Amino acid sequence: MNKTDAFFVTLKLYIKFIFMLTQMLENILVAQIEKEAYSSNLYLAMASWAENNGFEGTAQWLYLQAEEEHIHMLKFITYINERGGKAVIPALKQPPIDYIDIHDLFDQVYKHERLISKSINEIVGVCMEEKDYSTSNWIQWFVNEQIEEEKSVKLILDKLKLIGLHSLYLFDKDIVLMRNTASKA
Ligand SMILES: [Fe+2]
Ligand SMILES: [Fe+2]
Repeated sequence: MNKTDAFFVTLKLYIKFIFMLTQMLENILVAQIEKEAYSSNLYLAMASWAENNGFEGTAQWLYLQAEEEHIHMLKFITYINERGGKAVIPALKQPPIDYIDIHDLFDQVYKHERLISKSINEIVGVCMEEKDYSTSNWIQWFVNEQIEEEKSVKLILDKLKLIGLHSLYLFDKDIVLMRNTASKA
């Protein structure tokens, strides 16, 4: 390594040290890695149930949802490491295998997203307590994302309430279009 390279490596480490996360913030961000990873697995489990019960559109919606949660997890991992923390990859508990019906499944998606919104809000609270305004700024993306997540699942639940147990075939075809329309908006 020449002198210039060594200088830049040291500078990078120094900057990392100055902007290091506090222990409390690092802990809560690491805990969020597990929540996002579990979300991804939960939606995979739900997708598998949907696929086995004839809801192919719903399965497709859930597979995409699982991919998004995986990306969320990656965002936390890289952010923690960039800010001088240590991203720990957790062991995950097994998500439920069975669901009563499609209503029950989406009820559980909604409950889960509400839980995630709560934990993102808790991170915002810790950012304020620790006066870490960069992380507070960074986490805003997740605050907005949770608003969108809750909104889209609520819409699905409302639709399901309207159709009851009839026309589930049409609902299943429709759900893929709902995601495409939302991502274009
Ligand atoms: Fe997420
Ligand atoms: Fe989510």
